[in-house]
Amino acid sequence: MEAIRWEGKTLYLLDQTKLPVKEEWIAYTDYRPVVDAIRAMVVRGAPAIGVSAAYAYCLAALKGDDLTKAREDLAASRPTAVNLFWALDRMARKASDCGGDPAALLAEAEVIHREDVAMCRAMGANGAALVPEHARILTHCNAGALATGGYGTALGVIRAAHEQGKVDMVYADETRPLLQGARLTAYELVSDHIPATLITDGMAASLMAQGKIDLVVVGCDRMAANGDFANKIGTYSVAVNAHFHGVPFYTALPCSTIDLSIPDGAHIPIEQRAKEEVRTLSGVQTAPKDVDVYNPSFDVTPHTLLTGIITERGVLYPPFRENLAKLFG
Ligand code: MRU
Repeated sequence: MEAIRWEGKTLYLLDQTKLPVKEEWIAYTDYRPVVDAIRAMVVRGAPAIGVSAAYAYCLAALKGDDLTKAREDLAASRPTAVNLFWALDRMARKASDCGGDPAALLAEAEVIHREDVAMCRAMGANGAALVPEHARILTHCNAGALATGGYGTALGVIRAAHEQGKVDMVYADETRPLLQGARLTAYELVSDHIPATLITDGMAASLMAQGKIDLVVVGCDRMAANGDFANKIGTYSVAVNAHFHGVPFYTALPCSTIDLSIPDGAHIPIEQRAKEEVRTLSGVQTAPKDVDVYNPSFDVTPHTLLTGIITERGVLYPPFRENLAKLFG
């Protein structure tokens, strides 16, 4: 399964707002509509946003657009996932090396894309080793092939463990307000014939209390130098519940999601999204039109609730600040 394709001089994105009802690809030959696509979550998930922005930068180069402006516009699309800025910085470095040559920039974007898939595979292998036999695993949001260049981070770990015959059940939180768990994770699991049960977000604690969850693995949008990390809103509640019930809680992420420039989670910018996303469900009004709404897209889970951090370079355990610094040292 893949969500991003480049053919000739065109970027194709699978419209994730339509899944699982329709599989529609949208073609882009200009970077500006890609900014809107990222904002509207046609493409979403930290690594996938980075890969798409890298290709969008190539579209700007192909059209002879001002690359500094393109980089600024793309960077303004969503604030939390650091992979966006990481990929744009890498493309801008390449542009200054190659004088903005579109062919060289495309080669760089393709390397970013390929590397992301390879990192997911490595993370999958590293994470699968932590999964016990007959595991019942809980995940939140979608950190799968759709959220990455392919294969997935948290879902990559689940895929690899399933390939090893160790997964009895995956519980997918539906993930209000935009239902990435119900629409995307459940879709990936069912497509791959991985045993899946969809639950609403409030049901996870009850499953844990019944001893029905052996392990939690989630994705990550940005990790600070001390291991605090932002992920989809609701992740923090899952982490607190896992801690209370003694369930191991992991996040899986490529090193491109680690931001050593910020000391802790309080410095991670959290995107606030439209109030309509909470007053409606799939476009249908479910609350009074004028009720006020709180709609942060992400929350921060403190590193103290983490059992371990699964990366493509291995699994990190506390003390996280020291071990994250060593990873880049
Ligand atoms: O708002 P989204 O759908 O972009 O949020 C996605 C997540 O929170 C994912 O868990 C995260 O980006 C990791 S994806 C490998």
